[in-house]
Amino acid sequence: MSIDFYWRIGMEGDHASLRTPRRYNRGEANGHGPGNIAPAIRGGELDGYGYIDHMAAVAKASESAGFLGGLLPSFPVTEDPWAVAAALARETTTYRFMVAFQPGFLHPVQAARMSASLQRATGGRLVYNIISGGGGPAQLWWGDKVNHDDRYARTSEFLDVLRGVWDGEPYDHDGRFFRTAGAALPPGLAGQPFPEVYFSGSSAAAVGAAGLHSDYYLSWLEPFGDLRAKFDGVRTHAEKLGRTPKFAVRIDVVARHTEEAAWAEVEKGWAFVDRDAANRAAQGDSVGAARIKGWVPETITGYRDLEVQPNVWAGFSLIRGGPAFGLVGSYEQVAQRLDELRELGVDAFILAGNPHLEEAYRVGEEVLPLLQATPPPVSPFGPPAGQKDSRLLVP
Ligand SMILES: Cc1cc2nc3c(=O)[nH]c(=O)nc-3n(C[C@H](O)[C@H](O)[C@H](O)COP(=O)(O)O)c2cc1C
Repeated sequence: MSIDFYWRIGMEGDHASLRTPRRYNRGEANGHGPGNIAPAIRGGELDGYGYIDHMAAVAKASESAGFLGGLLPSFPVTEDPWAVAAALARETTTYRFMVAFQPGFLHPVQAARMSASLQRATGGRLVYNIISGGGGPAQLWWGDKVNHDDRYARTSEFLDVLRGVWDGEPYDHDGRFFRTAGAALPPGLAGQPFPEVYFSGSSAAAVGAAGLHSDYYLSWLEPFGDLRAKFDGVRTHAEKLGRTPKFAVRIDVVARHTEEAAWAEVEKGWAFVDRDAANRAAQGDSVGAARIKGWVPETITGYRDLEVQPNVWAGFSLIRGGPAFGLVGSYEQVAQRLDELRELGVDAFILAGNPHLEEAYRVGEEVLPLLQATPPPVSPFGPPAGQKDSRLLVP
């Protein structure tokens, strides 16, 4: 069975590397500073190379490195994923766009129309990452005061309405959060493939809504035993509803030709630990974020303290924004851990690394081909003379 590999597109600017965590040096996402690679300064002026140009480069790089598509995260500090997906679609050919969005901030009929337009324009390359918000200051930024469990009730109702109008038949709904009368997508938009639904959240409310709506239940990386237990809970709940979800994990990767070289990269980043920033990012009511924070001890004597199992490192959030866990190791070790996750039930991976452009090539070229579960490509030209197998192995 095939596995889907997505790459993360940095929507908030791109760090030069883990070693220079607060230096965004690609595109003008965070202004221009010393050490910026692009935009260049010509005649005293910025040359106009924009962050969208850099995101296009990352999308194209990861498309050519073998990734199925890209995750476009959505936070107050990021670009808007819908607009970016529309802009990047014409820069790519097969690349899918996993748009993260909070259902509370759009009317579902408008979301259906935007989605169907994108599906038609891209030949069905839109994927949803349904996020229901982590509470705290980030939620208030959007003016959203709906409490934690009600946000999942709202998400669930939103997806019901979105599906209700999708096929073009008039649809009425008078619910707790949304209303519509006689809504339907127009004939030209109706009938597009419905986007695959990735759904995240670790709380009981999230698992309840995911059971109803997810194609893929999506989690940050956690120690493998905890991840297995989490997936078991989601599967048990979904099966009671007659559904069988697939599973996906989002993972940061530092992979190098040797294990020592990978840890050396982490060691350089360790000089920039910012525990306050990590704590600020974990404010709110997110059960998933609290789970992750619980694995990071208050007292740390060195970065290897955070290696919770071989090659699984819980320190990423101390160096840069985002989830705590990722994989650190040689190309072979990282591939082995991904294979173990595959055996644990993972059907899709969203991988990431800094800088996103170079690391997309590195992970695509050095790690993915080592996975046991990666099928060799099938040649459209048939087997070479004298070879019976119709599959051509890429050297
Ligand atoms: C892989 C993954 C990606 C996520 N991406 C985003 C995002 O882009 N924006 C956002 O606001 N929340 C994001 N979240 C947060 C979740 O959608 C959810 O709001 C959070 O986990 C709180 O839910 P919980 O209390 O049920 O755990 C992400 C979560 C996961 C696991």
